[in-house]
Parts: sequence; C-alpha cells; structure tokens
Amino acid sequence: MSADLFTPLELGGIELPNRVMVSPMCQYSCEARDGMPTDWHFSHLTSRAVGGAGLVMSEATAVEPRGRITPHDLGIWSDDHADALADVTAFVRDQGSVPGIQLAHAGRKASKTRPWEGSRPLQPDEGGWETLAPSATPWPYDGTPPATRKMTKSDVEDVQESFVAAARRADEAGFQVAELHAAHGYLTHEFLSPVTNDRDDEYGGSFENRTRFLRELVAAVDDVWPSEKALFVRISATDWLPDRDSWTVEQSARLADDLGDLGVDLVDVSAGGVHPDQQLPASGPGYQIKYGRRVREGSSGVAVGAVGGITSPEQADALIRNERADLAVIGREHLRDPYFTHHAARRLGREEELDVPVQYDRAF
Ligand SMILES: Cc1cc2nc3c(=O)[nH]c(=O)nc-3n(C[C@H](O)[C@H](O)[C@H](O)COP(=O)(O)O)c2cc1C
Repeated sequence: MSADLFTPLELGGIELPNRVMVSPMCQYSCEARDGMPTDWHFSHLTSRAVGGAGLVMSEATAVEPRGRITPHDLGIWSDDHADALADVTAFVRDQGSVPGIQLAHAGRKASKTRPWEGSRPLQPDEGGWETLAPSATPWPYDGTPPATRKMTKSDVEDVQESFVAAARRADEAGFQVAELHAAHGYLTHEFLSPVTNDRDDEYGGSFENRTRFLRELVAAVDDVWPSEKALFVRISATDWLPDRDSWTVEQSARLADDLGDLGVDLVDVSAGGVHPDQQLPASGPGYQIKYGRRVREGSSGVAVGAVGGITSPEQADALIRNERADLAVIGREHLRDPYFTHHAARRLGREEELDVPVQYDRAF
C-alpha cells in the first residue's frame, strides 16, 4: 500500500509522525539585531508544532553575522544562541513534533532591509556590511549595492567552518534535523549556478567544480552531525533562466544523487532566486511540485520534499499517495493556518490520526 500524508516517515534515525513539514520562513524579528530568538520565534515555531506538523523547520538561521539577509535575522553563531534555541526545540518535541533548523549564509543577498522596509541594500553608515560571494558581482539592485567580495580559498574554509560549528551547536540545542540552505540565490546556490559563479579555480567552471563547495560542506557537517539525526539540503531545482547558461533540473537530479551518496537524507526541492531576470511560472497551486518529482525520478533513491503552492490537505495527501514526493513542505498556508495538520486529519477523514493537545480536545 502506498504511503499517505499520515504515514510516518523515517529519515536517518528520526521518525516524523506525518509527512507535513513547516517550510523555513524568515521572521526578521530579532529586534536587537543580535540573532537571538525572541518570544516571536518561540511562539511562531511552537504553535505550528501544537498544530500537528510532523516537522517544524526554523527559518534560515545565519551561521555567521555576515550571512544574515537583514540585521534582524536569526543566528546560531554562538553558544548563547544555541542555549536560547533549546527552549524552542524542547517545546516542539513535547508536542510530538520534530524540530529542524535551516543553516544558512546569504552570500551576495546579505545586508538588506526587511521586506516591509523595502528590501533595499543597507549602506555601511546604516549598519550594512561587505557581502561574500563566489564572484565579485553584487546582486543587481536599482540602488547602490553593498560591496561584494570574491571569496578567497581561506574565506571558503572560514564559512565552511562556521557551518560546521553551527551544526554542532544545533545538535546541542536539541534540533533533530539540520537543513543546509543551498537554494534561492544565497551563498551555496551562488556556487552552484554558472550565473553567479565566474571562478576559474576548483570551485568554478564544471559541474564537478561548482558543486564542490556544497559537497565539501555536506561532508564536513556530516562529520559532526549525529548519524541518528537527519540531514537535509534545500536546493533550487532551476534558476528559471532558460535563455542562459544556468542551473537546471537535470543538474539538480545529478546533484541529488551525489548528495544521497554523501549521506543526505532528504533533498528539499524549491526553485529560483539567483537573479532578478528569472522567468517565474504562474504561481498557482503546486507551482513548483513538478521539480520535486523530476528530481525524485531523475536520481536514484534519495528522499525528496516538494514545496510551493501546497495549500489544501487533499493536494498534500495526493502528492504523497502519487509518490511525487516523500514530504509535503508547506510555507504560507502555515502562516494562515498553524493547525493545518489537525484540519487535514479531519478533512481527509483520518480522525484516528488526530493528536490534538488535551487542552484543545473539546474543540476537535
Ligand atoms: C515570509 C517567508 C519567509 C521565507 N523564508 C525562507 C527561509 O528562511 N528559507 C527558505 O528556504 N525559504 C524561505 N521562504 C520560502 C518558503 O520556505 C517556501 O519555499 C515558499 O514560500 C513556497 O512555498 P509556499 O507556497 O508553501 O509558501 C520564505 C517564504 C516566506 C513567505
């Protein structure tokens, strides 16, 4: 019998109670600009666990201050960050849900204001900073971009070490899944895509070279990340730049194979974000789901999460039943409905799967 939305999923040594993952979503809510979680983060993440999601993934969490998109991003570059995040993971686990953390570095897309402040480049006199990237070309802003430094070999090693230290802290904080962010035009994606990688050393040029940064990163993190916990990588399956030499679904399937060989438990398949000229498809229901399916079919055996425009229980359930993905990764619908999974159990006639907190029993 094929799996459905409520079939537990074992990844690494971790069992997710169902196939619903809360997609990582930046909250830009560290008001003190110190990367420390606030009551907002606690409330945002734990309420989705109360709502029944099998896996609650934190937002992109910066492995070093330069890797923040905005000064208000969450971080995990010190032990104090890890201590504070331990409260979140303990509460999420108490709800029967699995806490995950997305480890991230924003590369040339760092040093901006928040979306509700215009997402414009931050200048040094406003607290902006020099960004790091595989090439010296800044993101093509309308305004003056922050300076972008082409990473030296030693920068590469420093950033990789920051990811490793962050993974170690994430383990100590009680996270059970670590997801390396290699999508949406941030640092690791900038290495993967020929659009943002003009290097002529061992990190640029061929597929082998462009994927080296990520492959080295996965191997280094895997060394410190406990084998009984799960390791994910989020990729953009395509740059949506069909008229240029760019990152494609075929390369993603090949990469997924390599990642599986390196011990990655699931590839979380998103799309786009590397350049403003991208040709977005119409963003209707499940607008990116086909990429997860193509990566799953084109690679041999690594589990896949699909994300993008999943809004209904029926759609999420069909995704799993039709074996288009192993995990339904749901973003904005979780902002509208923290109790998506409980509502899904009712809508799909799976009341026996309802695992509502006793305090809320009378409502379900
Ligand atoms: C407010 C917001 C913040 C986001 N932050 C992140 C992030 O931190 N990391 C990431 O990989 N994707 C991020 N995304 C993308 C989502 O995880 C998801 O891939 C995207 O919204 C498409 O899925 P959806 O249609 O279910 O929302 C964000 C999206 C939103 C709406």
